[in-house]
Amino acid sequence: RTSHRIALIPGDGIGIPVLEAAMAVAEAAAPGLLEPTGFPWSCEHYLQTGRMMPEDGIETLRGFDAIFLGAVGWPAKVPDAVSLHGLLLPIRKAFVQYANIRPHRLLPGVEGPLRKDGFDILCIRENTEGEYSGAGGRVHQGTGDEVAVETAIFTRTGVERILRFGFEQAMGRRRKLASVTKSNAQKYSMVFWDEVTRDLALEFPEVEVSHYHVDAIAARMVMAPETLDVVVASNLFGDILTDLGAAIQGGLGFAASANIDPTRKGPSMFEPVHGSAPDIADQGIANPIAAIWSLVMMLDHLGEPAVAARIMAAVEATTARGIGTVPGRDSTDQITAAVLAALEEQE
Ligand code: NAD
Ligand code: IPM
Ligand code: MN
Repeated sequence: RTSHRIALIPGDGIGIPVLEAAMAVAEAAAPGLLEPTGFPWSCEHYLQTGRMMPEDGIETLRGFDAIFLGAVGWPAKVPDAVSLHGLLLPIRKAFVQYANIRPHRLLPGVEGPLRKDGFDILCIRENTEGEYSGAGGRVHQGTGDEVAVETAIFTRTGVERILRFGFEQAMGRRRKLASVTKSNAQKYSMVFWDEVTRDLALEFPEVEVSHYHVDAIAARMVMAPETLDVVVASNLFGDILTDLGAAIQGGLGFAASANIDPTRKGPSMFEPVHGSAPDIADQGIANPIAAIWSLVMMLDHLGEPAVAARIMAAVEATTARGIGTVPGRDSTDQITAAVLAALEEQE
């Protein structure tokens, strides 16, 4: 069987132990299936070299089958705007990973703050433009007349492809799509987004479409998450809603994500939703489940659904036993060992 070449970027803080845990699980489930090459690109690397990644970093990554990333950012050492615009965000853009897929459901045995089960949401976040375009500037900096402008850019290409992707996902699920805007207050981009949604809905008559304002759907995700299936949102709205989605699924330690280029021209990237968690970074208590679930998404993407399913079953067996279900109680090593043991029991 062929192996898959993976670029491993652990990054900062808890990114390092959670990726190590996930790779141990991958190796146990299918020895040699993933062929990892590690890259030390991180805030530490920035302090040593003046760059988050080398100038040819994107070209280096291009040859891999996928990128597996832990977390980037260490605000005490390097400003977030520098570290994220030097590594994570350029990768998403350069490889046109326009669909950021983030599943939110409760694993067995995990009690969210609100309910024990009953929802299964797939957030599809636009990942290359919108509020993250980086267009803008500051004038009269530091003076009383200072003005800062941050322009959100929405292109027809960008809006159409993310909504089309959302409709296609909905067709493979419960055929419900929630389109998220703030078109009551934002009269250009979000009205445009609503129009594209309505046009595409004509192509997918089987899909039941709902339009929500981002504030209203935030409340709905808490009060009635079972009414939602596929949720499609812009870059910033999707970012915020997916930390909320993480919260209702039990915490950031459970939320996985895939940054996909559906055209498969370049590598896609897989990473937990959470960041480097400086507050717990040296305590050995980071939950590796978000990273392991992201590994599962990577294996599915690489055409290894059987291995992916076995790992997901081992994760679910682990949480069903109450291991890793309460934030901060079990160590990273204990949770990883339980997943490895559950894998072994499958044989
Ligand atoms: P964060 O996600 O790192 O942490 C938020 C809270 O959730 C913290 O209390 C943390 O302890 C907890 N948490 C997160 N992951 C956990 C896990 N696996 N297990 C247990 N608890 C977990 O968000 P933040 O504090 O806003 O950001 C910290 C740094 O990470 C910043 O530099 C930020 O820019 C960066 N960041 C990076 C990414 C990424 O690389 N994809 C994502 C989010 C934030
Ligand atoms: C995420 C993160 C990033 C984002 C940050 C670190 C730039 O919060 O992946 O959700 O906003 O996309
Ligand atoms: Mn986020």
